[in-house]
Amino acid sequence: MFDARFAAARALALGAVLALPSAAFAEVPKNPTFTKDIAPIFQEKCEVCHRPDSIAPMPLRTYQEARPWARSIRARVESRQMPPWHIDKTVGIQEFKNDRSLSDEQIATILAWIDRGAPQGDIRDMPPAKIWPVEQGWNYAAIFGQKEPDLIIRSTPWTHRAGANDTWWKPIVRTGITEPRWVRAIEVRPGTVKGRTITHHANVDIDQVEEDSGGVRAVPGRFMEWAVGKEGELMRPNTGKLMLPGSRIAFDIHYSDGGETVTDYIELGVYFYPKGQEPKYRQSLLRMGDTGVSAIDIPPNTIKATESYVTLRQAARIESFQPHMHLRGKAMSMEAILPGGERFVLSHVAEFSFNWHNAYIYADDAAPLLPKGTVIKVTAWHDNTAANKANPDPNVWVGYGDRTVDEMGHAWVNVTYLSDEDYREEIATRQERLRSSQQQ
Ligand code: HEC
Repeated sequence: MFDARFAAARALALGAVLALPSAAFAEVPKNPTFTKDIAPIFQEKCEVCHRPDSIAPMPLRTYQEARPWARSIRARVESRQMPPWHIDKTVGIQEFKNDRSLSDEQIATILAWIDRGAPQGDIRDMPPAKIWPVEQGWNYAAIFGQKEPDLIIRSTPWTHRAGANDTWWKPIVRTGITEPRWVRAIEVRPGTVKGRTITHHANVDIDQVEEDSGGVRAVPGRFMEWAVGKEGELMRPNTGKLMLPGSRIAFDIHYSDGGETVTDYIELGVYFYPKGQEPKYRQSLLRMGDTGVSAIDIPPNTIKATESYVTLRQAARIESFQPHMHLRGKAMSMEAILPGGERFVLSHVAEFSFNWHNAYIYADDAAPLLPKGTVIKVTAWHDNTAANKANPDPNVWVGYGDRTVDEMGHAWVNVTYLSDEDYREEIATRQERLRSSQQQ
């Protein structure tokens, strides 16, 4: 008899085994120099933000630009705060589609370079400057043979004055669609090139009345999240999100100081499946974690853990994990408890930062396949002590709420539900793929 629990465990375990080797065999250069060893890393992992017309405070393209920041770079790189990617590397799934973190080898190379006085090295070793697009482009249009998305929705413009404090701007805009449409890709981008200097990230929720919720307005689902360096979201084959007539888009945009006054808006680009072509699976973004008004209860000067459970009523593939907390947010984990009792940590974010709303998107062969009846446990840790540098006041009680000084503790999780039959098939084909790739 086919044991679904065993298969799920195997699928998870195999993914974990495959994640190990690369770091172990990598080598760190003996006398790293900027031109030979560091510049290629910065081009690959930092420049997307650390260049003019992007969000970071200083460019890191040349030796002259980078050298003054050596001490600060050492601290941020060693603690894995930069690049912003806060997944705990010691536990859970480690293969993601959008991983922008440094490898252990890259970190060791950067630290060795700085500890040896951060030398420039031979100018002739310097790689050619990386060319960044100056024009605003749509990433997916070409894939679908189009010039631009089928539908573009713009947020109400915001003017961010030079030197102004961070702002969270939350306009709501109608989609204007008149019939249900299946979405196969989504992109979000700042409206103008200058806008990139003030747009830290943007969350996009869809607010629509779900048919199966008896006409009750369902909790608005997160549709798409954008942060610097992110291209967008292509649905997996035969999978889509459903957009309904009457739907509205709720933007939540984090603007920060760009050094000069800039007016900008966000553009949400949506690509539809052709009419009449319905994908088999619907992807839904679920809010997991207890968000009831009484759920969050954090006394002053305390670290508090809040646990909550959701049961999957159908087999499912978990596509992504995005913790959502505010200024006291410290860590969040998502675990799967299989019907037989085995437990797996799927993902753990150890150093949560409110500044970075990272969505961690699992790689195709790493996205957990879970049987019906699996319990997803989300644990949120809040640090309301003075040790938390982001904490505005450790001496007050903190409860649930919308403001950043209130708290939340849930994860946005993209889920594709599967029939039992498709679930078994998915596991079988994945195991086959993993087995043959291991034999090579
Ligand atoms: C996704 C965008 C992004 C990427 C990628 C990124 N950074 Fe940053 N970095 C920022 C932003 C924004 C800030 C300022 C806000 C903050 O500190 O979070 C920053 C701040 C820093 C600081 C602190 C500057 C100070 O004021 O002391 C250092 C150092 C740094 N980054 C180094 C790096 C290095 C090195 C890399 C690549 C290995 C990198 N960053 C990759 C966006 C990014």
